[in-house]
Amino acid sequence: MSHCILQGGYFNNTLRSWQSNTSGLTAASLIYPIFISYEHDAYDEIKSLPGQFRVGKNKVVDYLKPLIENGLKTVLLFGMVKEDHKNEKGDAIYIEGYNPVINVIKLLKETFHGLLIACDVCLCAYTDHGHCGILDNKAAIDNKASVNAIALASLIYATAGCHIIAPSDMMDGRIYKIDQLLKENSLRNKVTIMSYSAKFASCFYGPFRDAAASAPAFGDRRCYQLPPQSAGLANRSVSRDVSEGADILMVKPGMAYLDVVKEIKNKYPDYPVAVYQVSGEYAMLYHASQQGAFDIKQAVMESLHCMMRAGATVLISYFTPQVLKWLKE
Ligand code: PBG
Ligand code: ZN
Repeated sequence: MSHCILQGGYFNNTLRSWQSNTSGLTAASLIYPIFISYEHDAYDEIKSLPGQFRVGKNKVVDYLKPLIENGLKTVLLFGMVKEDHKNEKGDAIYIEGYNPVINVIKLLKETFHGLLIACDVCLCAYTDHGHCGILDNKAAIDNKASVNAIALASLIYATAGCHIIAPSDMMDGRIYKIDQLLKENSLRNKVTIMSYSAKFASCFYGPFRDAAASAPAFGDRRCYQLPPQSAGLANRSVSRDVSEGADILMVKPGMAYLDVVKEIKNKYPDYPVAVYQVSGEYAMLYHASQQGAFDIKQAVMESLHCMMRAGATVLISYFTPQVLKWLKE
């Protein structure tokens, strides 16, 4: 039996604030997800997510600077590779020349000293079939190969300097493997594992798949993401990830799943719980407010405050830039 390294959960000021028992919604509660393009000069607005951009490594510093001046503490990086560089096994994820995330971690770390850098780890933006794991010869998930790939990608990101590894693939057993590999490489006390533990198979990811060019070429994700009607599987998945060594537990999507957030917070009061307000929630609130249904600030702040009420410690939101401003008003 290997022991649990608690230090991976509190080696930084922002991480320590997430361990607080008296948290309210502050700038430190927020994680801003950003899409890193393989085109180094990219600064392209994403059609399905108005106001969000795919940015290249030559633009990312200028993109983040004003947000950090406004109080941004944490980013969540999503990588995008060239279509030609995708293959069956998603090998581009390991290759510095193909996967822009590896260099951007180093760049952000050098440029912004206090910034906490999280990376989504998944294969779907790197495989030619667009599934989140490696497939066997019957086009079903090959668990062992998938878990090994996710752990290796995690090690590469951690070695580049990533502070928070956030595996979103939903392959069984990946937290154990990531934890082990980070321990073997003496990195576990320098890296937080934020597990997408209760991640449901949701149509609310639609705009994201367009943004990240990561929609599956065939089939769907219901064999690995959880059935939306099942709180039971969410509980079991969370308990499993706790036993395998996760530091932070995530529920995703947010708004339709706040009962799950509450249940998890009640069951694991000693763990920070992250809630991901996903792309479809962003698009809904954005478009409804554009059509005059409500005021965007009120709608977003109410949604986020309710996530905190349900038990969230950390909020992942595409509205982060606006919320940082609103928190100062
Ligand atoms: C990759 C991943 C997805 C999201 C985060 N990581 C898409 C998916 O699983 O289909 C969704 C984020 C969002 O919708 O904002 N596995
Ligand atoms: Zn995926």
